[in-house]
Amino acid sequence: MVEFRSEPFLIPLMSDEVFRRLASYIHENLGIKMPRSKHLMLQSRVHKRLKALGLGGYEEYCAFFFSPRGQEEELDHLFDVATTNKTEFFREPVHFDILTRTVLPAIRAERELTASRPLVVWSAGCSTGEEPYSLAMSISEYASAGTTFPFLVLASDISTRALETARLAVYSEAAIRTVPVTLRAKYLLRSKDREKNEFRIVPALRAAVRFFRLNLMEKSFDLPVRPDVIFCRNVVIYFDRATQTRLFRRFAESMARGGYLFTGHSENLCNMGVPFASVLPTVYRSIDGTSEDA
Ligand SMILES: C[S@@+](CC[C@H](N)C(=O)[O-])C[C@H]1O[C@@H](n2cnc3c(N)ncnc32)[C@H](O)[C@@H]1O
Repeated sequence: MVEFRSEPFLIPLMSDEVFRRLASYIHENLGIKMPRSKHLMLQSRVHKRLKALGLGGYEEYCAFFFSPRGQEEELDHLFDVATTNKTEFFREPVHFDILTRTVLPAIRAERELTASRPLVVWSAGCSTGEEPYSLAMSISEYASAGTTFPFLVLASDISTRALETARLAVYSEAAIRTVPVTLRAKYLLRSKDREKNEFRIVPALRAAVRFFRLNLMEKSFDLPVRPDVIFCRNVVIYFDRATQTRLFRRFAESMARGGYLFTGHSENLCNMGVPFASVLPTVYRSIDGTSEDA
């Protein structure tokens, strides 16, 4: 019998067994921790999937999800359910200052940036695109203030829904409030339909960002080129320590020699034994000889 919570929620309760199965699947495949405290969150998000699929209960959902058809059709939806996509333009603004004032001048002093070897920055866990577009705006501003150089922003996420929004590059007035006013005029186009109050990233900036789907749990990253800089912020906070350690090692193996890694303000690499040296709080530099120049 399906139990219901009291009005006004009327969300059926998910059994511990269903929670355990879905939670372990999410943890094993996405690295995202799903402790018992996430039961209500998972329950309400999966409930939306029950309604969308017209299923009668969580057991039925579980049976569908683990069936061959479910693995094909529902996987992306469960990944969307499990991930938190909260983001904003120029989140943790000090990182964009460090990038343009310290990191980019250092990279430019070390090597020439050419069309065949442009500056490459990777936003790993890019969510709906605000982070990679903020990177592209910052780099573009820095480049246009001096001698311009070619650059590419790689941007990946596991959530197909988030990537769709990112590729569309249309944002509400509320979403663009953290874009500095001077940059809005240059990099955002207001919707012709004034009532909509929406803004789209200009084509030139969209062209500088390449979005792709990638699970950071993969054993190796098949990147088209080695990034000079990786922004992986507010992503590993949801991972357990062993998963974080493996990921940071793979970053070191995948990036350009001496590349820079930016993490979120509550994420750090202390005592992990990973091949990065701290440059500034939450900014690291790869010190491993395993990564090679592209
Ligand atoms: C809270 S958002 C952070 C977005 C952005 N980096 C920022 O700081 O604003 C975390 C993102 O990580 C993504 N993510 C979580 N687990 C992932 C995984 N295993 N592989 C790839 N992306 C993942 C989520 O889909 C989500 O979009």
